[in-house]
Amino acid sequence: MCGIVGYIGPRDATPLILSGLKRLEYRGYDSAGLAVIQNGEIQVRRDAGKLSRLETLVERSPLGGQVGIGHTRWATHGAPSARNAHPHLGMTGKVVVVHNGIVENFLELREELALEGEQFNSDTDSEVIVHLIEKYLALEDGLAEATRKALAHLKGAHGVVALSSQEPDKIIAARIGNAGGVVIGFGEGETFVASDLPAILEHTRRVAFLESRQMAVITRAGAQVQTLEGAAVPLQIHSVAWDPVAAEKGEYRHFMEKEIHEQVRSLTDTIAGRVDFDRGVVRLPELNLTSEAARRIKKIFITACGTAAHAGMVGKVLIERIARLPVEVDIASEFRYRDPLVDPDTVVLAISQSGETADTLAAMEEARKKGARLWSIVNAVGSQAMRIADGCLSMQSGPEIGVASTKAYTAPIVDLYMLAVHLGELRGTLDPPTRRALIADLRLIPDLAGQCLDRKAEVEKLARMLMNTSHCLYLGRGINMPTAYEGALKLKEISYIHAEGYPAGEMKHGPIALIDRDMPVIVIAPRDPWYEKMFSQIEQARARGGVVIGLATDDDERVRSAASHTLWLPDTPWMLSPVTAIIPLQLLAYHIAALRGLDVDQPRNLAKSVTVE
Ligand code: AGP
Repeated sequence: MCGIVGYIGPRDATPLILSGLKRLEYRGYDSAGLAVIQNGEIQVRRDAGKLSRLETLVERSPLGGQVGIGHTRWATHGAPSARNAHPHLGMTGKVVVVHNGIVENFLELREELALEGEQFNSDTDSEVIVHLIEKYLALEDGLAEATRKALAHLKGAHGVVALSSQEPDKIIAARIGNAGGVVIGFGEGETFVASDLPAILEHTRRVAFLESRQMAVITRAGAQVQTLEGAAVPLQIHSVAWDPVAAEKGEYRHFMEKEIHEQVRSLTDTIAGRVDFDRGVVRLPELNLTSEAARRIKKIFITACGTAAHAGMVGKVLIERIARLPVEVDIASEFRYRDPLVDPDTVVLAISQSGETADTLAAMEEARKKGARLWSIVNAVGSQAMRIADGCLSMQSGPEIGVASTKAYTAPIVDLYMLAVHLGELRGTLDPPTRRALIADLRLIPDLAGQCLDRKAEVEKLARMLMNTSHCLYLGRGINMPTAYEGALKLKEISYIHAEGYPAGEMKHGPIALIDRDMPVIVIAPRDPWYEKMFSQIEQARARGGVVIGLATDDDERVRSAASHTLWLPDTPWMLSPVTAIIPLQLLAYHIAALRGLDVDQPRNLAKSVTVE
């Protein structure tokens, strides 16, 4: 989770930036840096590791000035190191940039710029941004215009903040998509900019949030906002509640809403540092798995509870299909009492957001007793499920506060996808071209998730239609059968509406008797290998007078005409379709619960981590 802090005003920027970055530490990072304009020159200090190392660097080599920007980085492209840490200077040394997000097309941009003589000092995708800004600055555009033109070249979701020593009276900030927010804080004769509220709340409660495709010219006196197309945008200043909990929610009403919308950034971070996109290789050193050890594995048990178990069901399809390894998914509360057939050639893989779920920990202990190799996929850093495993893949999603898991559902699916590719490569069941294709698909995911989030208006409309229903049926098949289970769980646990996820093929064996006009049926039918079967499911439900809501891939005219309503999904590689298919269902559950005026973040009877049996 990258963090950004900027300041312009009468005070020394350095301590303000460092303290702001400290307040963003909860988001996780592996390097940090800052840049300040000092006596007309840009001074940069940056290093791998924690902020304490940066503070030591600044003590040894002080820098001071009244305008500056800082950054905490979670590596996506280029290992965590000083040279890859932000801020990034261009070749003239007169422009400096910090960036959140992934420049999807950075390879071609880097090649084009190199052909024009640009030299790069890092392995990051972000560095192309400062070179593009300098390119337009050379054409006498001014920093704001140069930044606007540079951003037009970028694909993906971004938060960008730039400075120039030639225009020391301003900071430029811009946001594209959902790769993290950009918030501007208005003080007395001073202005702040950050990726999250906690970084600036100690200085001011008057803030404005940039929307996607907006850019701000920030000065001591305040800020002017325009769209990236150049249209002026009236500034909407909010007064934020002082309490830090409210601050952490940023522009959202609930943590769950924020965490749903964080999935572009959290998915970026889940992938961060684990994939060499250029060479098409997955690296999971946390498992310290050799090819020989990988070939010895005879079976994997995936064990978890609730949402984590649904992610495990997706993992079964992925690992069996990609690594050709048998996988059994067992609910942890069953596994622990089933005297499971486990031996040293078995891996037991536990999945847990909190890492403290009693049933899951007990299942891990049972596996340990039986001599299995124990892996885990966990979000909460330092939790038991992280510590007791032989190898743990962190979800790297940042804190999940809402009781209903959202980003901690999509993150383990991506972890399982990377694990499947890693196992396939080590076991020799995955040829290099297929492996490279699978990794190229993975790179699309944060942007595809962002496209799903951009379609929330359609979901809100459907939520108003369904908010008073008493029942709802979710049908899925194959890799999206777990999507049905997870979609139903989201609805029932926060809106208290009875919802059931079901394998679509099972409908004719009984549940189809349930269908009538008072039983909305959500049919998950993206373009995947089970599409034709799911399409006929829509027809079967309609034939019985059911209200069918189709979840379909863009431009699917068949579903559009067959279903009563359709929620559209961007075309997604089918093995990753559970990641995009769940997002509209997360939003649907959220908006129905919010419309019903319920406590979305703390639903009745539920706890964020069930640490008792
Ligand atoms: C999901 O929205 C629920 N909060 C619940 O099912 C949860 O997934 C389950 O309790 C497991 O929690 P864990 O991932 O922290 O182990």
